[in-house]
Amino acid sequence: SILQMEVEQINKGKYEHYMQKEIHEQPESLTTTMRGRLIHGGSSKAKTVLLGGLKDHLKTIRRSRRMVFIGCGTSYNAALAARPILEELSGIPVTLEIASDLLDRQGPIYREDTVAFVSQSGETADTLNALNYALENGALCVGITNTVGSAIARKTHCGVHINAGSEIGVASTKAYTSQIVAMTMLALAIGSDSISSEARRESIVDGLVDLPSKVREVLKLDNEMKDLAKLLIAEQSLLVFGRGYNYATALEGALKVKEVALMHSEGILAGEMKHGPLALVDENLPIFVIATHDSCFSKQQSVIQQLHARKGRLIVMCSKEDAASMMNVGKYVRVIKVPHVEDCLQPVINIVPLQLLAYHLTVLRGHNVDQPRNLAKSVTTE
Ligand code: G6P
Repeated sequence: SILQMEVEQINKGKYEHYMQKEIHEQPESLTTTMRGRLIHGGSSKAKTVLLGGLKDHLKTIRRSRRMVFIGCGTSYNAALAARPILEELSGIPVTLEIASDLLDRQGPIYREDTVAFVSQSGETADTLNALNYALENGALCVGITNTVGSAIARKTHCGVHINAGSEIGVASTKAYTSQIVAMTMLALAIGSDSISSEARRESIVDGLVDLPSKVREVLKLDNEMKDLAKLLIAEQSLLVFGRGYNYATALEGALKVKEVALMHSEGILAGEMKHGPLALVDENLPIFVIATHDSCFSKQQSVIQQLHARKGRLIVMCSKEDAASMMNVGKYVRVIKVPHVEDCLQPVINIVPLQLLAYHLTVLRGHNVDQPRNLAKSVTTE
């Protein structure tokens, strides 16, 4: 109806689509995710986090033999992004499961496990079934959801609300970045009893405080990503290479492109390049390489050199500070310069240009941005 259309337009504000609005509101959604949870004021106080929904369970979590993170789609990718810091700060092995795959295998879950269920809606059938399965097996179950009162929020023993605000676009954007931040705070909380990681934890807290302003900065790439979308509009495929903290960025960037722009896209772990993907490289196929500055940077530089040697059409995402040295390696379709943040928070920055690219590609290709064909926001059937 006309009334409904008017209400929708009011909800979208100055934006044309919910996905666009949700991409651009990430500085604010990240701020609400962290609100009241970071302790960093006053020089005498230690910089730390406070997660109300978890504090009574932290001791049990620290004693668990293993942590398992379960989700579907973007929520799985968010757990993949947070895994390195969860492992580093907890010292506990962290494994990931796509909910349907765990159920298909009836994989082992033990009483000594802490199992976290990551879900924007809190209602995804596969994730909910995996939760029931983990409850039956006696594990401590933690919910990481965006929906207060959802099935997953209710059935888990404890949890963290990501507080990103309601997300309407079928393709998840702001929930993804808030999930990463929420799981990073979870890592900080679990690790908060360790003296040896105190300096590291404090610099992550500082990084979290600055993160919304860095996201505001990276959003200025909007026009640049629109230009890139114009260049890629007629392509059939896009590969996205990442590794380390940004393996998840590669998977999530490719997921955005395929689900909304309806373009084949594949996220590739750069460390696996020689085990197959290299055979695809020629002068036609566009390849997006994430090479921001962290402990994997030199490995990623050599990946770029090898892709160059095979005449790959490269789009490189690098830290501003590295842009000049990147130019020495060879010619690129584009160099995307992003602000540098603490390594474990870099995925929050790096996904933004890819979200913008997917958005503009979709609009230019004339597809439905907010409701891609065949997809649903919340998949409540198996
Ligand atoms: C659907 C949505 C995705 C979402 C996935 C998991 O496929 O289209 O955007 O990532 O479900 O949803 P959840 O609500 O569990 O995070």
